[in-house]
Amino acid sequence: MNRLSLHFLIGKMRPLLWKTRLGARLRIVPLRMFMDAGVRLVAEGNARIRCAHGVHLDRYVTIKAGPRARIDLGADVYLNESSRIVARSAITIDEKTMIADAVSIFDHDHRFIDARIPMSAQGFACAPITIGRDVWIGSHAVLCKGITIGDHAIVAAGAVVTRDVAPYAVAMGVPAREVRKRSAS
Ligand SMILES: CC(C)(COP(=O)(O)OP(=O)(O)OC[C@H]1O[C@@H](n2cnc3c(N)ncnc32)[C@H](O)[C@@H]1OP(=O)(O)O)[C@@H](O)C(=O)NCCC(=O)NCCS
Repeated sequence: MNRLSLHFLIGKMRPLLWKTRLGARLRIVPLRMFMDAGVRLVAEGNARIRCAHGVHLDRYVTIKAGPRARIDLGADVYLNESSRIVARSAITIDEKTMIADAVSIFDHDHRFIDARIPMSAQGFACAPITIGRDVWIGSHAVLCKGITIGDHAIVAAGAVVTRDVAPYAVAMGVPAREVRKRSAS
């Protein structure tokens, strides 16, 4: 067996290990997904992480679900190296969506309303994130709480998404704005 097929086989086996470790809170289809070395899955008290078949988690991907949070990755979702998804409420990514390297997706902010109290003691403001199907999120983009990204949209590299992105839109910049629509050609 050559190195490439061994790497692929180990990547297919790794989810079995995680399933044992996180038990019922991790709902996956072990042999039908790929998990590279250095992937970190964390599900705190009653959280749920669900991966459909064909999900690909590349090297050093981190997926963290805080207490009672939900993370759902649809079929054939691809997370590239060093991307992270951290949920305290809910994050859903629909099928065939591609997340490039070092993308950050957070469905919460630290509360900071009262300047007399340390922010670390003020808890979190949370709102779910929904990413549609066949979406492409460019490298180093940051997705903030409460947004929805429509089906077939593109978020450019380095964008910070603070508002919804419409289906088929191409959005870029900080904060991200729609610059055009994709067309069928
Ligand atoms: C969004 C993207 C696909 C657009 O590509 P494109 O349609 O070929 O865009 P163009 O290169 O023609 O650029 C169009 C305009 O947008 C600007 N632009 C392109 N990408 C940008 C970005 N990430 N942020 C801000 N502006 C950007 C260009 O400067 C250009 O501006 P101008 O019209 O004032 O000259 C591409 O820029 C991008 O971000 N790709 C993601 C790369 C990546 O993460 N790859 C990982 C692979 S998994």
